[in-house]
Amino acid sequence: MMAATRGALIVLEGCDRVGKSTQAKLLVEYLTKRGKPAKLMNFPDRSTTIGKLLDEYLKQGQEFDDHAVHLLFSANRWEAASSMEKLLKSGTTLVLDRYSDSGIAFSSAKGLDFDWCRNSDAGLPLPDLVLFLQLSQEESRARGGYGQERYEKEQFQATVRDKFSRLQQDNWTVVSAEQKSIEELQCELRKLVDAAVKSALNKSLGHLPT
Ligand code: TMP
Ligand code: MG
Repeated sequence: MMAATRGALIVLEGCDRVGKSTQAKLLVEYLTKRGKPAKLMNFPDRSTTIGKLLDEYLKQGQEFDDHAVHLLFSANRWEAASSMEKLLKSGTTLVLDRYSDSGIAFSSAKGLDFDWCRNSDAGLPLPDLVLFLQLSQEESRARGGYGQERYEKEQFQATVRDKFSRLQQDNWTVVSAEQKSIEELQCELRKLVDAAVKSALNKSLGHLPT
């Protein structure tokens, strides 16, 4: 019998500066206030041993082969997988700031094969909802410059944008962040999240396919 209490696995994806972190945090606050257990998770999770290597890599203090670092990003998800499953099955909704699709888009933007990139994540918990936040390059530029990290360069971000659009999956919900205030976008996302939380109750948790 299926547990009647399963939480939903909700992922926010999109290019840099689109507002994923802000929106994810607000969604967790919203769910929590309404009495629905919810937890925010970020990928990469920079707090683990693997995450510290990734943090060094992103801050350009450490070099890795592109394949090797892809597998580290994937391993950083795998090391969270069993606790994610436990939380979901005990009724906690997880809101993820990036997940597997970021891994595929960023690594393939460096020239790695899509399917090769996808394979290392096969078997991870399957999102119930992927909210892909879309923003034009012009507006993202207008929101302020990128930071200092490895991938925060306009040319590379344009390639990532292109990979995300090739990756676009049937199960994505694309939401435009164009010309919207934080509150307006949040309002739209809440409706989608409420529906996903409700429908997850009647579904068993899936796993990412190869
Ligand atoms: P953050 O800015 O959301 O902390 O993410 C750090 C960077 O890591 C961001 O540029 C996207 C990149 N990234 C990957 O290259 N592969 C991955 O699997 C993930 C989750 C993020
Ligand atoms: Mg960033």
